[in-house]
Amino acid sequence: MRPGLLVTRHVFPEAIAILEQAGDVQYNDTSDGLSADALKAAAADKQAIVCQLTDKIDAALMDAASDLKVIANVAVGFDNIDIPAATERGILVTNTPGVLTDTTADLAFTLLMAASRRISEADRFLRSGAWHQWEIDMFTGHDIFGHTLGILGMGRIGHGVARRARGFDMRVIYHDVNRATPEQEVEWGIEYVDRETLFRESDFLSIHVPLNENTRHAVGGDEFALMKPTAVLVNTSRGPVVDEKALVKALESGQIASAGLDVFEEEPTVDPGLLALENIVLVPHIGSASIKTRTRMCTMAAENAAAVLSGHPPINPVNSEILDAD
Ligand code: DGY
Repeated sequence: MRPGLLVTRHVFPEAIAILEQAGDVQYNDTSDGLSADALKAAAADKQAIVCQLTDKIDAALMDAASDLKVIANVAVGFDNIDIPAATERGILVTNTPGVLTDTTADLAFTLLMAASRRISEADRFLRSGAWHQWEIDMFTGHDIFGHTLGILGMGRIGHGVARRARGFDMRVIYHDVNRATPEQEVEWGIEYVDRETLFRESDFLSIHVPLNENTRHAVGGDEFALMKPTAVLVNTSRGPVVDEKALVKALESGQIASAGLDVFEEEPTVDPGLLALENIVLVPHIGSASIKTRTRMCTMAAENAAAVLSGHPPINPVNSEILDAD
């Protein structure tokens, strides 16, 4: 009997072609997703689920799907999945690392530039018809070149942003619970600093940590108090890493100059305090959104699911301890 696969939401068609080779596919071909109950019912007789960061995959769903072997997330982040529950039940979880690194780093740098040069504000101003003369101090922002970029989380994407900063002659400082090797620090042109120094010395602070219990609200009132009044904050990781209420206060009071956000605490709801601010650039979680990268993320998730269903180890296991135990 062919295994059953559930695809919870619309994906690029290349992924469906791979999955159809691997088993019988139930495809919810909309971007709306399924309710928790519908998801549970659809997963009940499946061996594989291909899901997205907007699907909550919890222990109750896993219990409803007693034959489930693999949950393939179409994302590098996996905070939407209860990993300990999956591991306990022997269900492999996979993600899509590597393929979205440069696309996401591009977006982080785009936000950094747009926020510091006030691009959204200037665009709104011009479209409003209010531009009637060139003025010496019109939309003056902050220079990027030669300034200090702070990176919180020197993983793949953090490193991608650091690489881009070299072209702008920036000093790059970073903080991470895992320090890079001395050789990497020299080769990548990055300098390790303690957490407080990171916030104090950065002209631009870009966040690249995963969301977990240690990083929730890792950047809030105490951190903004350390930052320069000219500093720009960029977040392309996960919304809850930043305390949004504290960010609104910091931007309103001029504690920091501006921000560029791709991610939010309660997506797709955006705090009205953020929406009311001029000194912020807001985009709807599009860090990895190039056609090529999103297609590759979908095919990679499909390849992970297909590998497990054919009895092979997946390419990108998150809970590889299950494989080690076999
Ligand atoms: C991820 O992959 O975790 C992003 O947030 C979406 O690309």
